[in-house]
Amino acid sequence: MKVITCIEDLRVLHQRRVPRMFYDYAESGSWTQSTFRRNAEVFSEIQLRQRVAKDISQRSIEGQMLGETWAMPVALAPTGLTGMQHANGEILAAQAAEAFGVPFTLSTMSICSIEDVAANTQKPFWFQLYVMKDREFISALIQRAKAANCSALVLTLDLQIIGQRHKDVKNQMTAPPKLTLTNLINMATKPRWCMGMLATRRHSFGNVVGHAKGVENLTSLSEWSAEQLDPALSWDDVAWVQEQWGGKLILKGIMDSEDAGIAAGLGVDAIIVSNHGGRQLDGAPASMDVLPDVIDAVAGRCEVWLDGGIRSGQDVFKAKAMGAEGTLIGKAFLNGLGALGKIGVTQCLEIIAKELDLTMAFCGKTKLSEVGGDVIWRG
Ligand code: GLV
Repeated sequence: MKVITCIEDLRVLHQRRVPRMFYDYAESGSWTQSTFRRNAEVFSEIQLRQRVAKDISQRSIEGQMLGETWAMPVALAPTGLTGMQHANGEILAAQAAEAFGVPFTLSTMSICSIEDVAANTQKPFWFQLYVMKDREFISALIQRAKAANCSALVLTLDLQIIGQRHKDVKNQMTAPPKLTLTNLINMATKPRWCMGMLATRRHSFGNVVGHAKGVENLTSLSEWSAEQLDPALSWDDVAWVQEQWGGKLILKGIMDSEDAGIAAGLGVDAIIVSNHGGRQLDGAPASMDVLPDVIDAVAGRCEVWLDGGIRSGQDVFKAKAMGAEGTLIGKAFLNGLGALGKIGVTQCLEIIAKELDLTMAFCGKTKLSEVGGDVIWRG
């Protein structure tokens, strides 16, 4: 097998090994995918100042998020259906993150349940929540996250309605997959994936099926979201979740300085500048485009993190240079997971860490806390 040296290598292997409907689900944006593409492109527009003859012999890429020190300031983002990229995917990714020393966030729409991930990890992880119409279910989910010792709640605000990703509709993406002739033919070319799936009982939405009233055989995210996601969500609901949870709260999906100001005013611990990986409002700017305005609006009242388009340690470095205290990776770790399972997630983290360290060194810095706007080449 070809030597893996970058996230792109993992992506290629991910595409080869995972059924098309799940690979496409991970790698798509909505509609024309202009925001999805912009998220990544924006990083290549930033150029860095190379510095020389500085003592860079002792370096550290450790970073703080929520007052804790991590191996690097890179969290695994909440991604739906992670357990469809690889059997037991959420458990494997959580274990890889834990061993590496970065946060793992479990999605509400995961395949492995909160309890399952907690039973198979040692350290606390973060839990991501969608506000749904069934508030009793949401309350119960928050209690389950507390009981599982989750150390922070990530409340996603940009999915009151779901964006259309053409490929998901065309592929009739469901979990477990519908056994249509096209899907069966495609799955027959992915023997490793099939073997893994045959050996696990985790095939559907573990946090929801059998827990939410009347949801016994949920298979499709769009079906669930059409029925359950709450288009009436307001800032009052955010305050309600904050009260129910009582612990560290992170708001995800902020792309506007006015919204950022409101969020910071609620006393949350962090906000995540995110356009949902370009999967919701196509035509929105890249997360990096709006980061400076959001940081200004927040004015130090909470941490500001960047999500969207990060595929390398250089991207993490550039997000830090633009002022993000923390970052999240979604597609990059799914590429690792789909390609090689737990080892692939570890490899993804190792690749990013190495690229981050080398970039920092070439810019003449030895700690991420020293990295700011001065590393950017302004012409
Ligand atoms: C859900 O979070 C999705 O983007 O599909």
